[in-house]
Amino acid sequence: MPTALITGATAGIGAAFASRLAADGFDLVLLARNEERLTQTAKDLHDKYAVNTEVLVADLASEEGLVAAEERVRKGVDLLVNNAGFGNRGTFLNVPVSDELTMLRVHCEAVLRLTYAALPGMIERGRGGVINVSSAAAFATRGTYGASKAWVVSFSQGVSADIAGRSKGNVKVMALCPGFVHTEFHERAQMSTGDIPGFMWLEADKVVDAGLRDLRRGLVVSIPGAQYKAIIGVGKLVPRRLVGRLSSRAGRKYD
Ligand SMILES: NC(=O)c1ccc[n+]([C@@H]2O[C@H](COP(=O)([O-])OP(=O)(O)OC[C@H]3O[C@@H](n4cnc5c(N)ncnc54)[C@H](OP(=O)(O)O)[C@@H]3O)[C@@H](O)[C@H]2O)c1
Repeated sequence: MPTALITGATAGIGAAFASRLAADGFDLVLLARNEERLTQTAKDLHDKYAVNTEVLVADLASEEGLVAAEERVRKGVDLLVNNAGFGNRGTFLNVPVSDELTMLRVHCEAVLRLTYAALPGMIERGRGGVINVSSAAAFATRGTYGASKAWVVSFSQGVSADIAGRSKGNVKVMALCPGFVHTEFHERAQMSTGDIPGFMWLEADKVVDAGLRDLRRGLVVSIPGAQYKAIIGVGKLVPRRLVGRLSSRAGRKYD
């Protein structure tokens, strides 16, 4: 049985990855901070799909959590989903700098370190995949959040190119860039979502379907949903300053 390690596996997109991969026959390593939710998720998936489920209680904003996650990844995983992430409540200068740094640690340092831990074993075995969950915000201007997600895209593209010769295309690294998805994300960040039009919303299981399909097809950047493919495509033709002015405000109200 192949094994997948998913960070942030108890809610939203991570939980959707966990269900889908269990249904596909993957054994799972589920990582998050809340032990009770992790244990319940692991039990539910084991009971429903008869796969092995292991839990790893770890805070990816802490050195201890990062080391524990790296150690488990180095033992061997076939698919790594770097998904854990969050939004801070407010725009730059309205958020404590320590919270912005925590975001960089979870969105960037954890992604870098776990990818670094996963790839040598995958290359040696001649197969494997890393999905780094970025965001459509990577292509917009959206404070530290957008900047961290742009890093995830650029990092995934760079690593994918760097390993291409050694992995002969059998080890894949991909950035997954969803737009607005119904999850716990906005509530946790105390963002009000009332102004976001219905057509802009995606469902987590559809995002996961698109991501896994694009990984199989060998895409390095996956953008789920026709509406986001169009918006991001058009955005590339619009002057960067205008994109910045529009996207730094849209859908960015806090309760
Ligand atoms: N929802 C959207 O609209 C959207 C759009 C684009 C991209 N994304 C990205 O998608 C990813 C998943 O977000 P989501 O919307 O599914 O959010 P969510 O529903 O709030 O779930 C977040 C998950 O990450 C875990 N987590 C948060 N901080 C963590 C930490 N420091 N260490 C370990 N685990 C942590 C949470 O569990 P614990 O609290 O128990 O740790 C939870 O399992 C994020 O990277 C986010 O930036 C989301």
